[in-house]
Amino acid sequence: MDELAGRSLDWINGAVHMVDQTRLPTDYEVLVVDTAEDMTAAIKRLSIRGAPGIGVAGAYGVALAVRQYGGDPNRLSAAISSLRTARPTAVNLARMVDRAATIIDHGFDAVLQEAHTIRREEIDASFSMGQYGADLFQDLIERPDLRVMTICNTGALAAVERGTALAVIQTLHERGVLREALPVETRPLLQGSRLTAWELDRMGAPHRLLVDSAGPFMLARGAADIVVTGADRVAANGDTANKIGTFSLALGARYAGVPFVVVAPESTVDMGTPTGSSIEIEDRGAAEIITVRGVQTAPRRTQAMNPAFDITPVDLITALVTDRRVVRFDRGQTLASVKPGSLRR
Ligand code: MRU
Repeated sequence: MDELAGRSLDWINGAVHMVDQTRLPTDYEVLVVDTAEDMTAAIKRLSIRGAPGIGVAGAYGVALAVRQYGGDPNRLSAAISSLRTARPTAVNLARMVDRAATIIDHGFDAVLQEAHTIRREEIDASFSMGQYGADLFQDLIERPDLRVMTICNTGALAAVERGTALAVIQTLHERGVLREALPVETRPLLQGSRLTAWELDRMGAPHRLLVDSAGPFMLARGAADIVVTGADRVAANGDTANKIGTFSLALGARYAGVPFVVVAPESTVDMGTPTGSSIEIEDRGAAEIITVRGVQTAPRRTQAMNPAFDITPVDLITALVTDRRVVRFDRGQTLASVKPGSLRR
């Protein structure tokens, strides 16, 4: 049973209830989190994940910390700092933890209300991105039925409801113009196969799964009309951090001559980070590479590099779609020249 009605997380009876994304696609389990420490652990192990998703979870984590440690400033600030640094690449986590933390002196109820507001804003943003993105795709591509390649998971599970890039695919499907979605598996943690294929299946959208390394080749073969991805952080110049493998798809898209579009809420745009080279890339360690879901796939002592994200330079990105603007990098527009709010639904 889908207890959370298609959403990734909710506040129910004094605790955060969230879909445990480490258990999908085989088991739909709801995790109940009622301490800041458990929230930090859930974010670190990717039970809740995706940039907007961890931003919302982080804000609720601050509320939980205030409830636990309201009278103990040292323990409160230690709990908030652990939440804030649980994952470094997506700007949403630190940004939403900071936003909730600015009002800790107003008490638990006020911080909880702020977390609810952040959650509501992300839901609204997802609906806007879906519409703006689908409009853009239909403008960019002169076909009645679109084939869309994507990476990682950017659906409701990664945000709260509908998501970012996957919200665009969902909107195209609802408009009856999606021929097929082509998610890539997304090694090493398989968010594309475990989560995106699961969400596409639930929405009844046609799709075929590819291994990551098939993505660029199938683009070169003409298998997709457009590539769409989410983002963990968009720098001021438009360089974009997203799941490892995104850069390869952007290169493949450029080679194939198909548009490459990033879809992310304004909460992921970080004007304080000048370019992609200043974005910290999370390294998640060797264990995720030398074992696959508990099965050893390389000798035990093998050293590995495991960057969880990469940077796609802005010159490979056709456009950025947010909930408040569409920036056409391919036409020389920039984040500075197209202000948020230039679009209204
Ligand atoms: O490591 P993850 O699964 O949290 O990585 C998520 C991504 O890279 C997503 O593409 C990004 O956060 C956008 S989610 C709407």
